Amino acid sequence: MNREKILVIDFGGQYNQLVARRVRECSVYCEIYSYKTDLEKIKAMAPQGIILTGGPDSCYAEGAASCSRELFDMGIPVLGLCYGAQLMMHVLGGRVTKAPVREYGKIEVDVDRSSRLFGNVSEKTVCWMSHNDYIEKTAPGFRVIGRTADCPAAAAEWEEKQLYAVQFHPEVLHTQEGTKIIHNFLYEICRCQGTWKMDAFAENSIEAIREKVGSGKVLCALSGGVDSSVAAVMLSKAVGEQLTCVFVDHGLLRKDEGDQVEEVFGPNGPYNLNFIRVNAQERFYERLKGVEEPEQKRKIIGEEFIRVFEEEAKKIGAVDFLVQGTIYPDVVESGLGGESAVIKSHHNVGGLPDYVDFKEIIEPLRNLFKDEVRRVGLELGIPEKLVYRQPFPGPGLGIRIIGEVTPEKVMMVQEADAIYREEIARAGLDRKIGQYFAALTNMRSVGVMGDERTYDYAVALRAVNTIDFMTAETAEIPWDVLGKVASRIVNEVRNVNRVFYDISQKPPATIEFE
Ligand code: XMP
Repeated sequence: MNREKILVIDFGGQYNQLVARRVRECSVYCEIYSYKTDLEKIKAMAPQGIILTGGPDSCYAEGAASCSRELFDMGIPVLGLCYGAQLMMHVLGGRVTKAPVREYGKIEVDVDRSSRLFGNVSEKTVCWMSHNDYIEKTAPGFRVIGRTADCPAAAAEWEEKQLYAVQFHPEVLHTQEGTKIIHNFLYEICRCQGTWKMDAFAENSIEAIREKVGSGKVLCALSGGVDSSVAAVMLSKAVGEQLTCVFVDHGLLRKDEGDQVEEVFGPNGPYNLNFIRVNAQERFYERLKGVEEPEQKRKIIGEEFIRVFEEEAKKIGAVDFLVQGTIYPDVVESGLGGESAVIKSHHNVGGLPDYVDFKEIIEPLRNLFKDEVRRVGLELGIPEKLVYRQPFPGPGLGIRIIGEVTPEKVMMVQEADAIYREEIARAGLDRKIGQYFAALTNMRSVGVMGDERTYDYAVALRAVNTIDFMTAETAEIPWDVLGKVASRIVNEVRNVNRVFYDISQKPPATIEFE
């Protein structure tokens, strides 16, 4: 098994997952931990290196996120990024103050190529900056290895102690040679070997699962999305007939999706998953009646899911393990990994309620980012069409209908979404946009149809491009395509008389509506 590891210590900055992804892209495994993590625990993990992320605080302010001096005395290389860099200086005796000139955006940095961090980097290199404070004076022992017009210590090192600090964000793609810099840290400074490979991951995990499961029975929650499909196929390769996959049609799927999932994973498809489809639409609608609050809706859908599984498990006899397709961003966004605020409770993460009597949960993808899951999927021979499928949230259309969910509203959003997807595909844009879907707003407004006044709902069209789903930009859809979609929706979907095009970015909006 791969044991080489980098720790990313999270100070609550917005690019923290990007840091971890960049490290993994360099074939080095890493995990994100909160800055509150016990030093002993960090020591016990014996990482090859530590990266301190950015964060929103001022390191000299009272109550600011901090770390102990000992972190820098363990003989483990440390790279501080932005806040992490300032904190390193602050803790080790340098001076960090409010910068006379706040730097934001792409800034040219003059780097000293005699540093191992910048060996193969251009002397003048464009980096992404976003800071109010700056390092006014480096801590004793450090030498400056990077400068900008307004930042006299944009990078610093203490070579003997293997401590490195950069004011900019190498993890952001706008930093033109950012990956090179991270690569240098990992390979030239931490002496990593680069053992994190996806094919090894699949092979090793399948073997480990086989060992863990033994002769136990396994139940898998299959949604037809990329994550659970990859998890299911992994399990099927590991334990074959011992696996049963349950697909819950909660009535919040896209139009015809239930049948499509059954086609691929059911008994007539190419896999042997002991596929069971549960048509539980009515149960979900019943429990969602009158519920408007988004978090409550998510919780209800999540709980109901678990109950359905429990019932299925009873029907098929004792079950030892439950498989879930949780991936790493779910873990971090649910507040279990790093320091990021809990944004949404993803229903597939966290502890199970007491009444569930599975022995254990298996989450084979818990440490992977989405693009890594896709690579594993391809590795396992899952068709590209499935592997590159659009992400669809576990709570489904339940979080794309603002306010109360009713079967009628589900129909509206299903029809509108189907039209939208059809027209996007017809325009040849389906592979070019990261994620796009229709949502149903809770707004009703007056319109006119024929000679009659209407008082109907408004559909919102969402289309975003994103690399990591943590940030997203609006995708620009040509006006004629949008016009066609809008006109088809108001004409073909009953009770809808307006169509909006959502051009908000994430942040501050999220991709989904709830
Ligand atoms: P947000 O709305 O948080 O979405 O910007 C980011 C990505 O995550 C998906 N998403 C979910 N996936 N369970 C999931 O499995 C959920 O509860 C959930 N909520 C959001 C969303 O579709 C987008 O791709």
